[in-house]
Amino acid sequence: MLELRSLRYHPSTTPAALLDGVELRLEPGRPALVAGQSGSGKTTLLELICGLADPDGGSILWEGQALNARQRRGLCGLVFQFPERHFLGLTVGQELKLGQRRLPAERVEQVLTRVGLQGLSLQQQPERLSGGQQRRLALAVQLLRDPPVLLLDEPTAGLDWSVREEVLQLLQQLARDRVLLVVTHEPELFKGWVEEGWRLQGGALQPLPRLRTMP
Ligand SMILES: Nc1ncnc2c1ncn2[C@@H]1O[C@H](COP(=O)(O)OP(=O)(O)O)[C@@H](O)[C@H]1O
Ligand SMILES: [Mg+2]
Repeated sequence: MLELRSLRYHPSTTPAALLDGVELRLEPGRPALVAGQSGSGKTTLLELICGLADPDGGSILWEGQALNARQRRGLCGLVFQFPERHFLGLTVGQELKLGQRRLPAERVEQVLTRVGLQGLSLQQQPERLSGGQQRRLALAVQLLRDPPVLLLDEPTAGLDWSVREEVLQLLQQLARDRVLLVVTHEPELFKGWVEEGWRLQGGALQPLPRLRTMP
């Protein structure tokens, strides 16, 4: 279980704390989301969880152990908003290999299959892929390390309807065996499979009415 306790973050450049007393408990197989308006601190929350920033107070625990930033970077896979803008590889193969010491071909094929990109040419240029394929590739890059925690920043942003459905279905599958947290300004898109949701407002999380639609 991933746990946030009394998390506080107050950059010196902002008049008020961005996060102030955030409490959260997330379990594998129970996908969750945090909604909130633009500027409410959603991206900041993910950056703290995954160890790109350190909180000014409180703790982040995995299986009951408080983790430092380095440990959190190992635990979490973060998919940025518009991940396709951050592709660095000239080919799909290069993109997948970034940061990997050695990467067996079977592992690549396994992960591509997991995200529905089986058979994709590794020589293909990432910018030539369709919008849906690019999002899948960004997920594949994170899944290569098999992180127990997958964090997604606005995973539906900028996608048209059919591609969005594709990506949502994939996320639903990936949530089965790991902690999955989505932050989004459009929580209604996740109704039906996201188990728990909160609204980030004034630096703290308020539970959203149950997102799961009744059968
Ligand atoms: N390290 C920082 N220093 C100063 N301001 C920051 C820092 N991190 C985030 N902010 C500001 O905090 C606010 C919330 O940012 P963000 O987390 O990106 O919100 P959201 O993702 O919900 O739109 C923004 O106004 C942003 O400019
Ligand atoms: Mg954001």
